[in-house]
Formats: sequence, C-alpha cells, structure tokens
Amino acid sequence: MISARYYTVSWIGERVIADIRSAVYGRVMLQSAQFFETLQTGEVLSRLTGDTTLIQTVVGSSVSMGLRSLFQFTGGMFMLAVTSFYLFSLNLGLMVLLIIPLLVIGRKVKKLSRESQDKIADASAMAGEILNAVPTVQAYTQEQRETQRFTDSAEASFITAIRRTRVRSALTAFIVIAVMGSIIFVLWIGANLVQGGSMTGGQLASFILYAVIVASSVSTIAEVWGDIMRAAGATGRLLELLHAEPAIVEAKTPQALLQTGKAKIQFDHVTFRYPSRLQIIALDEITFDIAPGENIALVGPSGAGKTTLFQLLLRFYDVAQGVIRYNGQDIRQLSLRELRNNIAIVPQDPVIFSANALENIRYGRPEATDQEVMTAARSAQVEEFIHRLPEGYQTFLGERGTRLSGGQRQRIAIARAILKNAPLLLLDEATSALDANSEILVQDGLDAAMEDRTTLIIAHRLATVKKVDRVIVLDHGRVVETGSPDELLKQGGLYAKLASLQFAV
Ligand SMILES: Nc1ncnc2c1ncn2[C@@H]1O[C@H](COP(=O)(O)OP(=O)(O)OP(=O)(O)O)[C@@H](O)[C@H]1O
Ligand SMILES: [Mg+2]
Repeated sequence: MISARYYTVSWIGERVIADIRSAVYGRVMLQSAQFFETLQTGEVLSRLTGDTTLIQTVVGSSVSMGLRSLFQFTGGMFMLAVTSFYLFSLNLGLMVLLIIPLLVIGRKVKKLSRESQDKIADASAMAGEILNAVPTVQAYTQEQRETQRFTDSAEASFITAIRRTRVRSALTAFIVIAVMGSIIFVLWIGANLVQGGSMTGGQLASFILYAVIVASSVSTIAEVWGDIMRAAGATGRLLELLHAEPAIVEAKTPQALLQTGKAKIQFDHVTFRYPSRLQIIALDEITFDIAPGENIALVGPSGAGKTTLFQLLLRFYDVAQGVIRYNGQDIRQLSLRELRNNIAIVPQDPVIFSANALENIRYGRPEATDQEVMTAARSAQVEEFIHRLPEGYQTFLGERGTRLSGGQRQRIAIARAILKNAPLLLLDEATSALDANSEILVQDGLDAAMEDRTTLIIAHRLATVKKVDRVIVLDHGRVVETGSPDELLKQGGLYAKLASLQFAV
C-alpha cells in the first residue's frame, strides 16, 4: 500500500517536472534577441533544473505525506465530533484561530523561497559565464578573485536559505505549541466534565487518543504547507519564463514568400535603436535596394551598424521606423520560419556545436546527404584540414568548437551556409580569421556560391570585396556612399580613405 502510493505520487512528480521542463525550454527557444540580452543563460539553467527539482520534491513526497495526514486529520476530527461534540467544537474554534498566522507565515516562506532561488540563480549565472571564459581568467590570473566572487554569491544564497529555514522552523514550532496547548486546554475542560459527571472516563480516554492523531497530522500538514509555499516561490519563477512573450510577434496570417529564384532586398527609410540602448540611433534612415542576384559589400568603420543590418534582415529585432522588404514583401508579413529559411548567414563569431564536423555542417540543412555535406565542405576549404584530423569528418569538435582554430571554425560556418543553399547569403567578416592563402581558396568556393545569388558581404579587408557589384559605405548608422569599388575609389570619400590606409601597408 505504502509502496503503491509512493510509486504513484513519485510518478506524477516526475511526469509533471518533465512536462514543465520541456514547456519552459520550448518557450525560451521562442524568445527574441532582446530577451537574451538581459537574461543570463546560467539563470535559465538554474530555473530549468533547480526550481523544477524543488517542485518535484514537493509533488513527489510532501504531497504524498500531506494526503495521508489529511485523511488522518479528517478521520480524527470526525471521531472527535462523535465522541464529544462539545469538546470537539471547542477544539475546532481554537484551530480556526491558528489558520490566520499560518497563512501569514506561509506567505513569508514563499517570498523568502523565491529570494533564495534567485540567489542560487545569480550564483549559477556567474558560474556559467566564468566557466566559458576560464582561459581568459587564467591568462589574467584572476582565479582567486573569481573564486571569491562565487563564494560571496554562494554565501548570499546560504544566508537567504537560512532566513527561510528560520521562518519555517518558527512556523513548525508555532504549530506544535499551539496544537499541544489547545489539546491540553481541551483536556483540562474534559477532566472537569468527567468530574462533574457529564462525561465518562472512557469517553475522555478515546477523545485523547483521537486528539493525538489529529495533532500529529496537523503538524505534518504544517510541514507540507511550508514545502508547498516554498515550491510556490519556485513556481512563480518558472511561470515568468513560461509566460514570457517574445518581443518579435509573427503576423497572424503570414503571407507566403513570393519565390523569385533570387532574392530582392529593399531597405526603406529604416531607423533602428537597440531596445537596451534607446538613446543611441544604431541605424538612421537607411534606404537602399538590392537587385536579385546582386553582390553587395557593406563597408564602414567598426560600430557603423553593419552587423545590425543583418540582425534586422533576420528579424532578430523589429525596426522602429521604415520597412525592410524581401521580394517586395514587408518581412513582418512573413512567418519567421519562412523568412529565415530563405537566408543563409555566416555570423561574425561562428558557433560550433559539440558534435562532429559532419553534423556541424549539416546543421545548415538537416536532411542533406553525406555527399552534399562533403561538397559544401570542399567549397569552403574544410576538407583541407578535416583530413588531417584523426577521424576526419567524424572528429568531435569539442564544446563551442574549442578543438578548432579560429579560421577552421569560420570555414565550418561557411560550409554550413553554403549547404543551406538559400536565395540570400549574408557574410559577416566570414574570412577575417583566415591567412591570405586560405582566404583566396575559400573565396573561390564562395564566389561559386555567390555567382547567381543575392549576397551581402561585410568586410574590413577591402581586397576581399574588389569583385562585388556595388559597395554600400556605412558610417554612424547612415549610408554615406554607394557605388562600384572603382567609382568609390575615384570619389575620394570614406571608402577611398579606408582603402588607401589598407593598401598603403
Ligand atoms: N545588442 C546590442 N545592444 C545595444 N547596442 C548594440 C547591440 N549590438 C550592437 N550595438 C551597438 O550598435 C552599434 C552598431 O553595432 P554593429 O554591431 O552593427 O557594428 P558593426 O558595424 O558590425 O561593427 P564591427 O565592424 O565592429 O563588427 C554599435 O555602436 C554597438 O555598440
Ligand atoms: Mg559587426
């Protein structure tokens, strides 16, 4: 019987937690870039694991105990009422008085529980960030300081946890004393009744027995109540994640993207500020058209807003004013899935997943055959180094690609984008980490991919964009020049200045 109850309740607990975890994770996946600017990954992890575990303990064990005690309590109360209704009513009156302080303390436990879970999350957020940067920490010999920071943070969560425990112990003590007190009081009255002859000794004895059962179940219920309040604090944190609305909202009835073979892109008076830095204009009244199949270079000083343009095209953020059009359609009218499926990007800092080379490239198109993956790998000059790795394409690349050089990571990312074979190709400093020789080779592969495809290339090294149809020069979030590389050189503006600085070397 006990084991059956234990099994059932634990099963429910595990089930509930697995469902909550997936739901929360799924919700986090939908959030837009803005969300991750403020929430740290360690914090999300702590909610996914710590908070859910807490809830699981409550559902899986406390509730089981609580249910049993609730039965005992109801049965005990019933028998008390049958044995002596007068004494029972007295007892009941006293118990009702107990409920109010119980609720107040319970709320306090809930608040403190939330605080202590927040503190734990702070500590894991910090650990998460630092663990990703251990080499830098060690290079600057900051190990001790980082350990101290973590210790302080752990200490802070200890202190709040202890405050919570103190309040809970007070709750338990209060219950026990109050219940004992009321029983003794009622017994005293009962003893008087027996003396007065309106109650028999036997009746009083059975009353005492039932009272003890009720008292013990009440103290268990109080414990469970404390647990439930504690879990309620954690639930609040999970619900916040579960109810978080993505900042990027899809159109209710998204239009299908007009398939034109090659992508046509229009920026129409686009002005944009990052939500986390509203006082600075990142892009200011940007207007330009990119014809289908055109190859465009985006050039400009660091911080000019080049990467921002890509982020807007992928709709990681929504523009404040103006419109971005893909094949003539406002990108906000398209489903995010459709829009992003039609864009391949090599980001400024490429991401490598902890899998082998083959799977990392296949991320661009999960249904691609090994043969297709290898063709893409060849164009991106991945093959050149992959064959030197111990297990070739099957070589595990380490978490975040730690087992590759910077240029090798870039080539994997390029292969991934080539494999995706989308009508619009975005390259953000895609070959910046390559040596001149590899760069020329990779460029050949890219040229083939760019040939009949609309391509936007961000490059600091102007030599790599000599062959593009048109250059758009950005400065401080504005378009300052456009034209072919040769025209711009002759104009003697910002492009010519940047070029002269580079080619003079
Ligand atoms: N997430 C962000 N929140 C707030 N401001 C941002 C964010 N990302 C970029 N910025 C700011 O927006 C401006 C443009 O940044 P962007 O990344 O587009 O520059 P960039 O032209 O790509 O520069 P680089 O050549 O150095 O990569 C910069 O001033 C930068 O500080
Ligand atoms: Mg950039």
